[in-house]
Amino acid sequence: MVRCACRYHRLCSVRCTAPVILFFGTAPWAYFITVLCTSFTMNIVTTVIKSRHSVRKFKPDPVDDTVIRDVIECASHAPTAKNLQPWLFGVIQDKETLRNIAQLTDNGKFIVDASLCIAVFGEKKSTYYLEDCCAATENLIIALQAYGIGSCWVAGDKKPYAEEVQKLLNVPDTYTLVSLVPAGMPAEISVVKKKDLKLVLFKESFKKDSS
Ligand SMILES: Cc1cc2nc3c(=O)[nH]c(=O)nc-3n(C[C@H](O)[C@H](O)[C@H](O)COP(=O)(O)O)c2cc1C
Repeated sequence: MVRCACRYHRLCSVRCTAPVILFFGTAPWAYFITVLCTSFTMNIVTTVIKSRHSVRKFKPDPVDDTVIRDVIECASHAPTAKNLQPWLFGVIQDKETLRNIAQLTDNGKFIVDASLCIAVFGEKKSTYYLEDCCAATENLIIALQAYGIGSCWVAGDKKPYAEEVQKLLNVPDTYTLVSLVPAGMPAEISVVKKKDLKLVLFKESFKKDSS
């Protein structure tokens, strides 16, 4: 493991994940080891959050039903405006349906190879359904990561295929599609660079070119 020079953490999971990938590849157990090792020295939740990367290539291994239930429960623990919880979660595991959803999307063709896809719908009558369902989607993705399961947020809201996906899944039109989360054991993980905090953080009051 690599020591991180950052002021806030004794170990930085982002830097820690890289050598694990180099030595062990992208096997889910390698991620588990990363999470396990770093959890001894820093907060496990922040470690899981920082070790997450979008996964678009999956192994065919199935995901356990108890795990699916638990991650949906985590999604439903997201904060919501007035505690309305204006969501509906659809779990799709049928290969034919996964293929049909994948074909409808523009940037989600890889859904066909996922073990499952969770469709998050929001109740249109609720003013903050979009914010609430996005919070639930993020909880879902982080919970999947905590189990070593890869996933990727695929856009639903504002997409022309949203209505077709909704019809395909027989969801009443009082709801609207917010996101699709294909998930499965990672076969490949692409690590993207995040913006330096200096560029996105200000303290007390914003000053132009303050960094
Ligand atoms: C609202 C939203 C919509 C997204 N839609 C897609 C999508 O349609 N297809 C896709 O492959 N990735 C999609 N992504 C994933 C982003 O491409 C990904 O999060 C980004 O490149 C950063 O990579 P990371 O998730 O590995 O940090 C979406 C992410 C968000 C938050």
